[in-house]
Amino acid sequence: MKSRRAFLKIIVAGIASFFIFIWNKLTLNHLKTAVKGEKKFPFNKNKTVSFNGDYIIVSQNNSTTVFSSHCTHLGCKIDKLEGDRFVCPCHGSEYDLNGKVIKGPAYKNLETVPSRISEDGNGIIIEG
Ligand code: FES
Repeated sequence: MKSRRAFLKIIVAGIASFFIFIWNKLTLNHLKTAVKGEKKFPFNKNKTVSFNGDYIIVSQNNSTTVFSSHCTHLGCKIDKLEGDRFVCPCHGSEYDLNGKVIKGPAYKNLETVPSRISEDGNGIIIEG
């Protein structure tokens, strides 16, 4: 009876150690990403434009580009597309899908943000 309890304790300790090991692996990977300042967003290459907070992800012609969503005039956040133009809600600056200014008062193009497709192809990693 005593050896049976000891055996069960060893099994429970082994299972607990396994879960603690997995938890630490997941947590440390998360911290490693955060330290680098990278952010991962879901990525759908079939969707042309998606807005993700401070970023606008544009997929077109088998290429994906990430822009800052902050207008280059005074920094208002652009969060919608009208036709094929990004329109700033503050003073009406307009940009095309390549981030190029097509109507002021802004005169600088949207800032391009370094990014890459994740290894699994399901996300885009933005280096911020
Ligand atoms: Fe966008 Fe002024 S902040 S047009």
